[in-house]
Amino acid sequence: MVEHVRIVEVGPRDGLQNEAATLPVETRVSFIEKLIAAGLTTIEAGSFVSPRRVPQMADTAAVLKAFAGRRGVSLPVLVPNMTGLEAALAAGAREIAIFASASESFSQKNINCSIAESFERFAPVVERAQAEGVAVRGYVSCVLGCPYEGAVPLSRVADVAERLAALGCYEVSLGDTIGVGTPNAARAMLRAVAERVPMKSLAVHFHDTKGQAVANIYACLEEGVRVVDGSAGGLGGCPYAPGASGNVATEDVVYLLDGLGFETGVDRAAIMEAARFALEALGKGGAMRRGP
Ligand code: HMG
Ligand code: MG
Repeated sequence: MVEHVRIVEVGPRDGLQNEAATLPVETRVSFIEKLIAAGLTTIEAGSFVSPRRVPQMADTAAVLKAFAGRRGVSLPVLVPNMTGLEAALAAGAREIAIFASASESFSQKNINCSIAESFERFAPVVERAQAEGVAVRGYVSCVLGCPYEGAVPLSRVADVAERLAALGCYEVSLGDTIGVGTPNAARAMLRAVAERVPMKSLAVHFHDTKGQAVANIYACLEEGVRVVDGSAGGLGGCPYAPGASGNVATEDVVYLLDGLGFETGVDRAAIMEAARFALEALGKGGAMRRGP
């Protein structure tokens, strides 16, 4: 039987949040439409965070409203606290993602609170989301290194992932926020987490800062992970992770998975089309890294 791998597209959120240009709502909506046309069924549409901190994600409510009632695609949005959840619910969000860190310093820089405080904020957010029938995904950042602290103990990564799962996240995405991992490190990290959270509830989220993302994904597929985050065109980075470059390009993930014989339901040429559209809108039309 052909095995399925689910690709979670994060381009419209992780991709666009770190770009110098802020795209208008219509362009963000068109980008998402093109990603849907490429066969993606989970597409992160934006964030409900402080627009002063991340102006690129302002107006996510208007982006979501453009897809009101749309079936067959899930459009999760990042939510850091109750303010974000209220706004997401009002905009019709049916799925949210909460985001924790395995590193104290990154937690402070990114969401202005400690790891412990972040869980105090998340608990009522998840409770309320679930009461509204809204699915909750979780992220752990800095799973293979922190831009401020360097190495991060695997036990801390596993602890944070386990706490997110225990809170009620249906899936926990393990983020190499600054793209410092290499395959054996990625494998060891995933194994450590999978001892505490079932593999079927885990996803991997690699940034490609040092060109290791596809190799790391391959190692994690060998370990059994079947959900992979990607960003069309390799857009992306985190404003609070200096030196972090784009996420792994979704078109490269699709090429890898096609070649390995996995089924994704995603068309690589159509992803490239969406990526080209976003890059041109950002004034970076020449930055498309791959040919057909
Ligand atoms: P804070 O300063 O601690 O919050 O920020 P506060 O409650 O003291 O509020 C401060 C101001 O923010 C107030 O406005 C609030 O109304 C407003 P003011 O009175 O100053 O005008 N505010 C909000 N506005 C909109 N939406 C909200 C919200 N909450 C408060 N939800 C906060 C805390 C988390 C909001 C802030 O630190 C923030 O927005 N941080 C940005 C976080 C972010 O988006 N980071 C990038 C995404 S994470 C990532 O990229 C990693 C990932 O990809 C995985 C990986 O790669 O590892 C997921
Ligand atoms: Mg990221």
